[in-house]
Amino acid sequence: MADNRRVDLSVPSAARMYDWLLGGHYNYEVDQRASEELLKVAPTTKELARNNRWFLERVVRVMAEEHGIRQFVDFGSGLPTQNNVHQIAQAVDPRSRVVYVDDDPVVLAHGQAIFDENDQSVVIASDMLETEYILEHADFRRLIDLDQPVGVLFNSVLHCIPDASGPGDLVTRVVDRLRPGSFVVICQLVSDDAGLRRQVTEMMLEQTHGRWGQVRERAQVDRYFDGLVIQPPGLVDVTDWRPDSELKRRQRSIEWTEYGGLAEVPPGRRSGAAVPRPRTA
Ligand SMILES: C[S@@+](CC[C@H](N)C(=O)[O-])C[C@H]1O[C@@H](n2cnc3c(N)ncnc32)[C@H](O)[C@@H]1O
Repeated sequence: MADNRRVDLSVPSAARMYDWLLGGHYNYEVDQRASEELLKVAPTTKELARNNRWFLERVVRVMAEEHGIRQFVDFGSGLPTQNNVHQIAQAVDPRSRVVYVDDDPVVLAHGQAIFDENDQSVVIASDMLETEYILEHADFRRLIDLDQPVGVLFNSVLHCIPDASGPGDLVTRVVDRLRPGSFVVICQLVSDDAGLRRQVTEMMLEQTHGRWGQVRERAQVDRYFDGLVIQPPGLVDVTDWRPDSELKRRQRSIEWTEYGGLAEVPPGRRSGAAVPRPRTA
């Protein structure tokens, strides 16, 4: 089902708060105020957002340069920023193709012009849980050949999905459609501090009027990778995922981190079957 959310500028959104934390301009006063509240609880969250984006840049480059991936799907792509996935991938090979998926109306309004800037990238407006709608979408079919390896990103998005909606099942539904030699990137917000996990989860749920998921423990994120072949250096604070400069190695978040990594889809993993998501209505 296509997403038809309307912009509500009185309610902060995760996409616009993240944009503000990164120093972007696609956000409003409500997003700034909510982010400032978040910084009181987790003061190193700007560093966390920046580290996450640096990780995304590195991991897309690694998939393109070292594994020859030329088609990418970016679930929960966020607002356009510097070095979007298609720019990184097309710097390696201009023929690289990228499908972005997001359900935030502001992302879609600004993203359409920038992500659709050539006929090799497109943004699909959808709740990412609607995997069948996305994988069967005409634009998806035009750009992504599921019989060839794909690089799939769930980068800093699964904490937007509550346990009740099955973030792990979402990953499984997508991975089951990929051929061996495909790659999956997953990272999400974690903390070892149960009090912080609870406090930030409650704060974000209240601020976004329930459009959020939860901060998790590392072991929960580890389970998203079941059946996949995790690539070196393993599952880590993304700051430690093959940092390419001393500055990036040093700049850390303290209270919480983006945790995850890169994994390959092994032979025998693909079912190929379309597994519809059970509908509640
Ligand atoms: C923190 S941003 C991450 C952006 C980007 N992936 C990155 O790592 O820089 C999370 C994004 O996921 C999107 N998102 C959250 N829940 C979603 C859902 N159920 N379906 C589609 N997009 C969603 C939000 O709109 C937001 O743009």
